[in-house]
Amino acid sequence: MRATLVAANWKMNGSFASNREWLRVFTASTVSSEVAVCAPYVYLAQVADALRGTRHASAGAQNLSAEAPGTATGEIAAEMLLDCGVRWVIVGHSERRSRYGESSGIVAAKAARAVVHGLKPIICVGETLHEREQGRTLAVITAQLAPVFDACAADELAACAIAYEPVWAIGTGQTATPAQAQEVHAAIRSLLSRHDPGAASQTRIVYGGSVKPSNALELFAQPDVDGGLIGGASLSVTDFISICQSADRAAN
Ligand code: 13P
Repeated sequence: MRATLVAANWKMNGSFASNREWLRVFTASTVSSEVAVCAPYVYLAQVADALRGTRHASAGAQNLSAEAPGTATGEIAAEMLLDCGVRWVIVGHSERRSRYGESSGIVAAKAARAVVHGLKPIICVGETLHEREQGRTLAVITAQLAPVFDACAADELAACAIAYEPVWAIGTGQTATPAQAQEVHAAIRSLLSRHDPGAASQTRIVYGGSVKPSNALELFAQPDVDGGLIGGASLSVTDFISICQSADRAAN
């Protein structure tokens, strides 16, 4: 049985003062799903410290370098994330693929570097609206995951989560229907199982794209949807707690 995972992706939002309040309310709530709070680099130590005493929640980064520590000005290495108490790291978010030119090869190298150091990557994949309309959803996702399968061993894949985030659903208010999400999640699981059946049953596949309190339960109730990656709605701690509690209910 896969434990449900709900990850907050704060993107480039937050301040020490607003994070403190968010973390105060969140740590006082009752959530049993596993939770990752993915904050901007400069707030990771704050988030990790606040979540240290919780049973299921830990800090996550939104990116890392594919390189070892050294002469890479402005980059952050896996070792430094661990040093801050970080457990999770998002790799290959569509905003990084499209705005910062991250290829699937670079994404796979980042995922591999993360797992080798004991960080758990949340590997994002997803198609654009144009690609969906052309019937290329599965081909796009297969191509995005192929370098990951080459770069990570089966036991490493089981430690990863894959986030299906259709680009057309991110920040648009237009959520994939539960049936659309389930169809793609099942296809991703079958790609995983062709690579390694053990990893396929263990790897969490979470959905991201306009998840909110009103649609979370129906999405998380799908058999291959193991939780969510939450952008805009994670900025409101009450909405995020409500989404986590939907994940708790879906798991029961
Ligand atoms: P929204 O929840 O704002 O659509 O963002 C999804 C996302 O990009 C999470 O990584």
